[in-house]
Amino acid sequence: MALPNDPSVSINGERLLERIAELAQIGKIEGTKGCSRLAFTDADCEGRDLVVTWMRDLGLTVTIDAVGNVVASTNSDGASGAVMAGSHIDTVGTGGRYDGNLGVLAGLEVIEATLAAGIELKRPLAVAFFSNEEGSRYPPDMMGSLAYVGGMSVEAVLEVEGPDGTVVGEELDRIGYRGSAPCPGAAPHAFVELHIEQGPVLDKEDIQIGVVEGVQGISWSELTLTGQSNHAGTTPMSLRRDPMRVAAEVVVAARSIASEIGGSQVATVGSLTLHPNLVNVIPAKATMTVDLRNMDEPSLQLAEEQLQLRVAAIAEDEDVNVESRSLARFEPVEFDGRVVGQIEQLAKQKGLSTKRMPSGAGHDAQMMARICPTGMIFVPSLDGVSHNPSEHTDPQDLVTGTQLLADTMIALTEVAW
Ligand code: GLV
Ligand code: MN
Ligand code: MN
Repeated sequence: MALPNDPSVSINGERLLERIAELAQIGKIEGTKGCSRLAFTDADCEGRDLVVTWMRDLGLTVTIDAVGNVVASTNSDGASGAVMAGSHIDTVGTGGRYDGNLGVLAGLEVIEATLAAGIELKRPLAVAFFSNEEGSRYPPDMMGSLAYVGGMSVEAVLEVEGPDGTVVGEELDRIGYRGSAPCPGAAPHAFVELHIEQGPVLDKEDIQIGVVEGVQGISWSELTLTGQSNHAGTTPMSLRRDPMRVAAEVVVAARSIASEIGGSQVATVGSLTLHPNLVNVIPAKATMTVDLRNMDEPSLQLAEEQLQLRVAAIAEDEDVNVESRSLARFEPVEFDGRVVGQIEQLAKQKGLSTKRMPSGAGHDAQMMARICPTGMIFVPSLDGVSHNPSEHTDPQDLVTGTQLLADTMIALTEVAW
C-alpha cells in the first residue's frame, strides 16, 4: 500500500490486457487478431462507447469536443494543467489491436491504478483519444489532435470529404460524437504517448523501451491522372494516353527518389484506383496517393520537388493530364528534451534496456508537442509488423511500457517548467 506522499503506483497488467482484448473484439477482422475501425464508422462509434463507459465508470470528467476528441480527467477542469496520456482508437481498414489503442488504455490504467492507490498528486491526470489519427478514411492523419492544438479549424475538419463521398461533420453527427467542449482544447502540463514501435528496431535489437526523440516529417499527396479511355485491342500503343502507364512509372520513380535521397527517406504508393477498371479498356483516369517521409525537412522538400518533376515528365510523355492535391504535410517534430530525459532516466532506474530513436509513424504526440512539453514511449513490435491485423507486441512489453508510462506521468506531476 502506497503512503499518501509516496508517488509510486503499480499498474494492473491483467486489467490492461483484458481491456485491450475486449476493445479488439469491436470491428474484429475474422480469423485474425486485428481490427477494422476506420474513423467515424459504426465500429469506431462502438469502440468509443466502450472506452467512454470505462472512463465514466472511474468517475472521471469526460468531455467531447466538436471534432469528437474525448478527454477524461481526474479534475473537473479537464486537461488544463493535467499530465495527460493519450492516443487514438481508430484503426486503418486492416489494422492491428495495439496501434493507438495501447496508449489510450494504458493511460486509463494509469489513472485507475492511481485512484485505487489513493495517493494525492500535485496535478490532475488525464487521458484522451483523438479522432481520426489514421487519416485513412479522411485526410489528414492526426486530424483530431491537429484540431485540438489549433492547427486546423473545426469548420475545416467538419467539411472534409472522403473518397467514398461521406463528410466528416455528417459522420460525426451520425455516430453522436460531435460534442460541445471547446476545440482547440486546453493545454495540459505535459503529454506522454505510449505506442508500439511499428517498426523492427527494438525487436531486432532485443531492447525493451524506445525513448522517442521526435517524429519524421510527412507529406501526402493525391495525383489524379486523366488520359483517354479507349479500346484495348484497337488502339495502337503509340497513340495511347494511358494514365495507368503514368501511375506505374510514378510508383517506380517514388522508389528511386527514396533510394537516391537515402537516409530516412521513404516513399509509398498505398492507394491506386482506376476508372473504369476493366480488362479490355484503357483507363480514363487513375487516382493514386504518394506518402513521403523523412526526419530531415530539407531532404523531404527535395523528395517532394523530385516527385513533382518526374510526375510532370512522365505525364507529358504520355500526354496525360495531372492534378495534384496535398492531403497532409507536417514537418519533422522534436520532443521536449526534459520529457525525453525523464522517460529515459526512469526506464534506466528500473533496469530496462533503452534506445533513443525517432518515430517513423505519425502520432498525436507530434501535434500535442505544439502546445505542451511532450514525449513518447515505444515498446517492441514483433518483426516490426504494423498496419496489419497480425501486429503483435508481447504482453509483458505492454505491461512494462504501461508501468513506465505511470512512473513518467507521476514524475511529471512533480516537475515545474
Ligand atoms: C499514422 O498512423 C501514420 O503514420 O500513417
Ligand atoms: Mn498509432
Ligand atoms: Mn496507425
